Amino acid sequence: MKKIELVEREKFNYHTREAFKALRTNLLFSGSDVKTVVITSCLNNEGKSTISLELSKSLAAAGKKVLMIDADLRKSVLVTRYTESTKSIRGLSEYLSSQANIDDVLYETNTDGLHIIFAGAVPPNPVELLGSKKFEDFIRQIRELYDYVIVDASPLGLVIDASVISAVCDGAVLIVAANEISYKFALEVKEQLERANCKILGAVLNRVPMNQGAAYGKYGKYGKYGKYAKYGTYGSYGQEAEADVSESDKK
Ligand SMILES: Nc1ncnc2c1ncn2[C@@H]1O[C@H](COP(=O)(O)OP(=O)(O)OP(=O)(O)O)[C@@H](O)[C@H]1O
Ligand SMILES: [Mg+2]
Repeated sequence: MKKIELVEREKFNYHTREAFKALRTNLLFSGSDVKTVVITSCLNNEGKSTISLELSKSLAAAGKKVLMIDADLRKSVLVTRYTESTKSIRGLSEYLSSQANIDDVLYETNTDGLHIIFAGAVPPNPVELLGSKKFEDFIRQIRELYDYVIVDASPLGLVIDASVISAVCDGAVLIVAANEISYKFALEVKEQLERANCKILGAVLNRVPMNQGAAYGKYGKYGKYGKYAKYGTYGSYGQEAEADVSESDKK
């Protein structure tokens, strides 16, 4: 298998690292039928890719065999952000359009137990590719080979891709940037996932301002990026999560 080195771009503080572990624990307790998980959000820049990768690494560190798939076919930055590669790397879009085989796009990483498939070149028809029988078959087959498959997707509040992906995954996690997304918008996206018959595992409240309120404190070298907080319970987001969203999360 091909190998690639993923460069560590960020040193997360203790609290953030602990929050990733908590996220991992929640996923581990979501049941053995939850193996393929799509990560999405309402808008760009809410932390989907960061969380997908850190969650994947964290699961691998716990001894799990993990595949991360970069399915943000429209504007992925993973290759440029996390590798030193100067060439474009073939990935999911080439595989789904039958321009590459699985062996051409599957990479072993420098994290033991973690494999990755990058997005590949931007295709003209991402929804068509992700909604294809080929993608469905691929997820079904790959599911048997890994303990977890983490799929980083485009923002569902902007494009439909994540909904199409979620239809063939076991569960979805919604990333919500604190103070940026209205309660109504988050609910709309949650409902969209539900319409795809995907189990919503939970939500991650990201980018919590560290200087707001005693609950978050002032630790953290990342300034305005906070710890990964969680509302809702993994495995039972459903109705309960609505009640779990605090008044301050509503706009
Ligand atoms: N909790 C965090 N701690 C530190 N940095 C963070 C955190 N969450 C996000 N970031 C930073 O915010 C930026 C956007 O994050 P990321 O690329 O993961 O978001 P995204 O939702 O995948 O964006 P896009 O929709 O464009 O794909 C990155 O520079 C990332 O390093
Ligand atoms: Mg991203």
